[in-house]
Amino acid sequence: MERVWLILALVTFSSAMSRRHRDATPYFDDESHRLWSSDAAELLEGETVDAHVIQHHDPCQAHFCERGRVCRLDHVGEPQCECQPFCSRHRKLVCGNDGRLYLNHCELHRAACFSGARIHIDRSRKCFRKGLMPITWDNTPSPATPAPRTREEKLDLEPPQIRDDLTQGGGAVLTTRSPLEDDQNKLQNEVTHLEDGEQQDELVSSSSSSSSDSISNNSGSSSSSSSSSASPNSLCSLQQYEILKDNLLLYHHARLMAENGRGSEREYLVSLMFSKFDTNNNGALDRTELTQVSQEEEVSRLAEDCSLADLLHFDDTNNDGQLNLNEFYTAFSKLYSVSVVSLDKALEVNQVSARVGDNLEIKCDVTGTPTPPIVWRRNGLDLAALNSEDIRVFMDGSLYLTRLQLVHAGNYTCHADRNKDVVQTHILTVHTVPTVQVTPHIQSLRPGEEAVMSCRATGEPFPKVDWLKNDEPLRVDIPHKYQVVGNGTQLRVRNIGYADTGAYMCQATSVGGMARDISSLIVQENPAPTGEQQESRVFVFHDWGVAVYEPDECRLFHVIQGTDVIPGTQEYVCGDKGTNCSWGRAINVAERYIYVTQPRLDRVLVVSVPQMVVVDVIVTDQYPVDLSYVPNLDQVWVLNWRSTKDDGIKTIQVIRDASQKKKHHTVHPEPIDGHFDLVENLFVPSTQDLGHDFRYAYVTHTNQRGLYKLDLANMKYVKTVDLTPYNCVPQHVVFSSLHGLVVMDCQEPVTGRRTGQLVLDYLTDAVLSHKPSLTGEPHVVPDSSLAVTVDTQDHVKIVVQKVTDHGLDYMFDVITTLNVSDVTFFPSRLTHSYDLFAASTDKDDIFFLDLHTGKVEMITGVGRAMSADLAQWRNTNRPIVSSGVFGRFMVSPAEAAIFVINGETRTVNCEIGSLVHPRLAVWVTRKYI
Ligand SMILES: *[C@@H]1O[C@H](CO)[C@@H](O)[C@H](O)[C@H]1NC(C)=O
Ligand SMILES: *[C@@H]1O[C@H](CO)[C@@H](O)[C@H](O)[C@H]1NC(C)=O
Ligand SMILES: *[C@@H]1O[C@H](CO)[C@@H](O)[C@H](O)[C@H]1NC(C)=O
Ligand SMILES: *[C@@H]1O[C@H](CO)[C@@H](O)[C@H](O)[C@H]1NC(C)=O
Ligand SMILES: *[C@@H]1O[C@H](CO)[C@@H](O)[C@H](O)[C@H]1NC(C)=O
Repeated sequence: MERVWLILALVTFSSAMSRRHRDATPYFDDESHRLWSSDAAELLEGETVDAHVIQHHDPCQAHFCERGRVCRLDHVGEPQCECQPFCSRHRKLVCGNDGRLYLNHCELHRAACFSGARIHIDRSRKCFRKGLMPITWDNTPSPATPAPRTREEKLDLEPPQIRDDLTQGGGAVLTTRSPLEDDQNKLQNEVTHLEDGEQQDELVSSSSSSSSDSISNNSGSSSSSSSSSASPNSLCSLQQYEILKDNLLLYHHARLMAENGRGSEREYLVSLMFSKFDTNNNGALDRTELTQVSQEEEVSRLAEDCSLADLLHFDDTNNDGQLNLNEFYTAFSKLYSVSVVSLDKALEVNQVSARVGDNLEIKCDVTGTPTPPIVWRRNGLDLAALNSEDIRVFMDGSLYLTRLQLVHAGNYTCHADRNKDVVQTHILTVHTVPTVQVTPHIQSLRPGEEAVMSCRATGEPFPKVDWLKNDEPLRVDIPHKYQVVGNGTQLRVRNIGYADTGAYMCQATSVGGMARDISSLIVQENPAPTGEQQESRVFVFHDWGVAVYEPDECRLFHVIQGTDVIPGTQEYVCGDKGTNCSWGRAINVAERYIYVTQPRLDRVLVVSVPQMVVVDVIVTDQYPVDLSYVPNLDQVWVLNWRSTKDDGIKTIQVIRDASQKKKHHTVHPEPIDGHFDLVENLFVPSTQDLGHDFRYAYVTHTNQRGLYKLDLANMKYVKTVDLTPYNCVPQHVVFSSLHGLVVMDCQEPVTGRRTGQLVLDYLTDAVLSHKPSLTGEPHVVPDSSLAVTVDTQDHVKIVVQKVTDHGLDYMFDVITTLNVSDVTFFPSRLTHSYDLFAASTDKDDIFFLDLHTGKVEMITGVGRAMSADLAQWRNTNRPIVSSGVFGRFMVSPAEAAIFVINGETRTVNCEIGSLVHPRLAVWVTRKYI
């Protein structure tokens, strides 16, 4: 760890409430060092303090500087923004509106800072067409020339396909495409790809400490630095030399062909080069000539450490100190022997199908002699650069995908390194074994009654759903006996008799396999109670404590008073008499516990579902608010606001083994570049029906356009996603496991102007679409089939889009006059998917939208919401919460009551009153089978 975290421990021994021992354990450091000093300078490198009571000590950590500037402490220790002394050499070309091409965004902002000019990014990318060399601002004091010293391109054509990776040998191919077009394509591609996925640089403006040498050295401000004398012991390696020749050919191809308009015969090209280099026309190229040409043409840019004079070193076969035409031909002809790439036309598109959980190897059929190195891409992004455990590109050019998930479905292309003309596309479809679930599992009814059984199926592709009785198809020849609703979501057996006793089976079949579940019906004169097989409870958090209800009968089941003492401690649940509870968020952890934040008490309470008492108190950083549960890792992620306001100096903590019966504590994930506490938001994927185990979440930092990708299992940041081109500070981020989409709504930093909806590919973080005019909070339906965007500004507009293999397709939208406060998804009766219910900030109505037909309905008489100014911690003043796939109910807290709504009949089941500001509701379901 390079940086010293400047962290100050503030210990408040005499707070009103006795604060118990804090056992927040810093995950990243040796916790045995506890410093109680108020002088951060005394902190030694690598040491940190009890993470709970962190305060900034480095004022720069909380001082926001514009881009291109960094924060420094001035002589009195005040934070000041000054121009960034250097940027990383990271290549992410960008046009400025000053017409210049910059090496990366950082360089652009830095140049703006030094010059005092307002330089914006020119998204038209006009400057690429001019073939400029990227500039870096040279800030070395130079009294004679106060104007910026820029290195503009001398040549009018940027050599196409300049190769700057030196890792892959051989495989050179001369393309005969129009060089200019190629050049632009290359630049465009480069820009797109880097924007899409590259690490580094932009988001953390002051982190480029490793590249302090980048100002004047490197990439030859003139060729004088590189071996103009071409001593045999120059730095030029054989590999680089090959690259140099290769680039030289491509470059001259472009240039000479443009001048002469001739065909592309290689000998002709080489002969033209020879006569051009042979300035004294003596039929031989000597060191002086080569050096001169090298300098004139800035050859050093073509390959880092090589110059033309290296031709003498490598290809002067007769050692006479000069190169004759033959030697020159030979030097370049070696390249021609390399790889002519080909692909059988019939193999251009290859369909691959696999099942979730499989390991898959895909071979690339692009061939050449010698075998060219193969590049695999998805959405244009080089997969070898992904560094992902489950997606690997092998040396032999095959792609290996481990433990396939639905998110892996999609197109993969492969091509020879340096030849993007011959491309093979592999279309991967991934299917799942269907799942099916019936309810009830057993029922006992009297003759003459009607039996109703429900079935929910999931799967990709969506399975065919059939009902069977005792393994036989239903007898449709019996009139009015059976009614199959929707796509098999429900079976009704009418006017039952003893013969209807039996095992009714719901069966789901797809290419992925088959699944069945059985609902037994017993017809008897005196039905034995079969008992409840599933019971739902709803925990409601209000100003005076917690109330637990049984929704069917609308019974109050249990209460926890705010003034109760937490068992085994001497602390109150909320506080002494007269203290109102303050609740942040509450979540269900494995149907076993409810975790709820108490922002003002800096802690998370763990409530046992069966016992309905507080069983653990977990101390956190200040003002914990948001909570998310990751079931596959059994982690609860906590976002601590560290302020009563939502102002982006938050910290993140993790509670591990969250569903285990034990004493829990928090750990911090690895901080981002020491920017420990500038977190704006944390977006953890929610669980979905298709059962994908998400491995990553995203984090945003204050006012930064982009996302940090967080590896949940390792609690580490793995990647930065730059969204500057979309002017996007993500506000809400949701995930679809089907086709692996990440959907977010964007805002401009500082002004908060809304900049539309972005859809990324979860695997590569490549941007799939940007819809600037589609604004509002996105939601993904639990079965991943639809995305619903709810825009509550101006008028309320609900936009429904379908999840497809290429992103989101518009289906329809609905405009309503209701001021929507919250939405929830409830299982649809007619399809295996979901419908939408919405509550209102100021009306006693609930809005219903059938997401498949667009049909709208209102449920009235659900009471008024509490006043919007009473809402805290970014909670809505009127939530609505659905009880899950087989639950029949939703609950919506109003001013002083909760309303239980039957989602099937779309009516109010009951109103339970006498509550002071019910604010949060969490469902739990206990199954008894
Ligand atoms: C630039 O390179 C020269 C020699 O290659 C070296 O002496 C000098 O320190 C370098 N400058 C910087 C800023 O790294
Ligand atoms: C019914 O299921 C079929 C697949 O078996 C699917 O194509 C169709 O869209 C479904 N219809 C509805 C209304 O869900
Ligand atoms: C607690 O809430 C009640 C009603 O919600 C309010 O009248 C009272 O002022 C609050 N008390 C405190 C200490 O905030
Ligand atoms: C995948 O490739 C096929 C064949 O090139 C193309 O038709 C299809 O549109 C591609 N799909 C996506 C999502 O890009
Ligand atoms: C929505 O709320 C705003 C302010 O809260 C109010 O001015 C407006 O009238 C409401 N719209 C409707 C249709 O109730």
